[in-house]
Amino acid sequence: MGVEVSVANLTKSFGSQNIWRDVSLTLPRGEVSALLGPSGTGKSVFLKTLIGLLHPEQGSVIVDGTDITECSAKELYEIRKLFGVLFQDGALFGSMTLFDNIAFPLREHTKKKEDEIRRIVLEKMELVGLAGAEGKLPGEISGGMRKRAGLARALVLDPEIILCDEPDSGLDPVRTAYISQLLIDINAEIDATILVVTHNINIARTIPDNIGMLFRKELVMFGPREQLLTSEQPVVKQFLSGDRFGPIGMSEEKDSAVAAAESAMQAAGISGGGTTEDFSEIIPQVQPNPGLPVRQAAIRHRQHVLEILPTLPPRAQEAIRKSLALSAVE
Ligand SMILES: Nc1ncnc2c1ncn2[C@@H]1O[C@H](COP(=O)(O)OP(=O)(O)OP(=O)(O)O)[C@@H](O)[C@H]1O
Ligand SMILES: [Mg+2]
Repeated sequence: MGVEVSVANLTKSFGSQNIWRDVSLTLPRGEVSALLGPSGTGKSVFLKTLIGLLHPEQGSVIVDGTDITECSAKELYEIRKLFGVLFQDGALFGSMTLFDNIAFPLREHTKKKEDEIRRIVLEKMELVGLAGAEGKLPGEISGGMRKRAGLARALVLDPEIILCDEPDSGLDPVRTAYISQLLIDINAEIDATILVVTHNINIARTIPDNIGMLFRKELVMFGPREQLLTSEQPVVKQFLSGDRFGPIGMSEEKDSAVAAAESAMQAAGISGGGTTEDFSEIIPQVQPNPGLPVRQAAIRHRQHVLEILPTLPPRAQEAIRKSLALSAVE
């Protein structure tokens, strides 16, 4: 289970507005990856491009060996069945009950009988903490509940690839921790390839094997989580610390006069509001709940990271050695 998704030289524009260009990355089979980036950098557009809802001008998206930017509509329909997608807005049908919303992919894509569908829907609703809300309409529940309903729907087909667009937005910190744990448990159980778009630094630090970041129309980096968390790049550091001072502005570009004024303020000891936490201090990844299998992807990831270790920046190497508890060997 779990398939690789490999993106090469992908470029996407709407009319004359380029969103990002030349994006290349591989979501390794069964591994959990996170995509970070300021608002409006095209993370949601990227997710929609991965499932062929949006068409790129250039580049390829290879899913399980098929380039979905070139394949037939019939092939794309088949490939889509591999995906479970939680859209940023939940994308629920407003006139359908939660039960019918979550049952929808099963009725659309399988020949399962209604009693089997009922069993699966209730199981997934229980999993995301929505037991008892089957008869509610999306308009009658909270934003966090809609999010969890969207996640339940993304899971009903036991997908090989799970894409989650901000699973934590609208959720309180405790529900966010449950959802994060759920993703890791699912990953351990079915070895699904997972991509999570998030602004939540806690999730970024503890859930993914790999992290990437979009900024100024480019993929700034994509690699083992330690690489981004220890990065010295101003944009990465500013994003992680949530500081006002740095290359990221309210609307993306900051001019040099503003940057100079900020440096002066910083020199005068004025805070940009960010945390001073040290993200290069790698904290342990969330583990599957007791009784679940070991994450096979974590074993493969470790192997891969050891192979590419010499090619990574020194700080990333050091952090990886620490997280692999290899420092004693060196
Ligand atoms: N269907 C569309 N047609 C035209 N422009 C679009 C379309 N979808 C997105 N855009 C534009 O693409 C840009 C990136 O949008 P996107 O929603 O992917 O950002 P994002 O990184 O997900 O932001 P956020 O963190 O706020 O969710 C925006 O400028 C948006 O207006
Ligand atoms: Mg978005």
